[in-house]
Amino acid sequence: MIKPDAVANGHIGAILNDIIAGGFKIVAMKYIQLTAESAGNFYAVHKERPFYGDLVAFMTSGPIVAAILEKENAVEDFRALIGATDPKKADEGTIRNKYAESIEANAVHGSDSNENAEIEGNFYFSQFERF
Ligand code: CMP
Repeated sequence: MIKPDAVANGHIGAILNDIIAGGFKIVAMKYIQLTAESAGNFYAVHKERPFYGDLVAFMTSGPIVAAILEKENAVEDFRALIGATDPKKADEGTIRNKYAESIEANAVHGSDSNENAEIEGNFYFSQFERF
């Protein structure tokens, strides 16, 4: 996902450029605004965390870009491309280092395992929306 902060700050194009230049193929993509219910479900694993309520409010504050990306070793390579969750700790040149505002408004989300990539891809896209 490209999150509401990065969308509002005009970084969709630059982030997609970095993703494509990083060797990722875009299999599916859409521009949508999450409801509190859908954002809550997406981040259900964080339900008990103190930042959960703020995270859901932030993720519903404006439109996002959701995408499925394909590449050999995609999960690990995408996490390297985006950098650490906290942009202050993200390596120079990573997407979060360049475009994120804070640990919450951190520009992008990437799946943390192949299993979660499958679940999160299915959350947004039907089989007819993948190419
Ligand atoms: P993401 O990779 O989408 O996964 C969970 C999200 O929760 C994370 O990016 C941040 O947006 C948010 N998050 C994680 N840790 C914190 C924190 N300590 N404070 C606020 N938000 C956080």
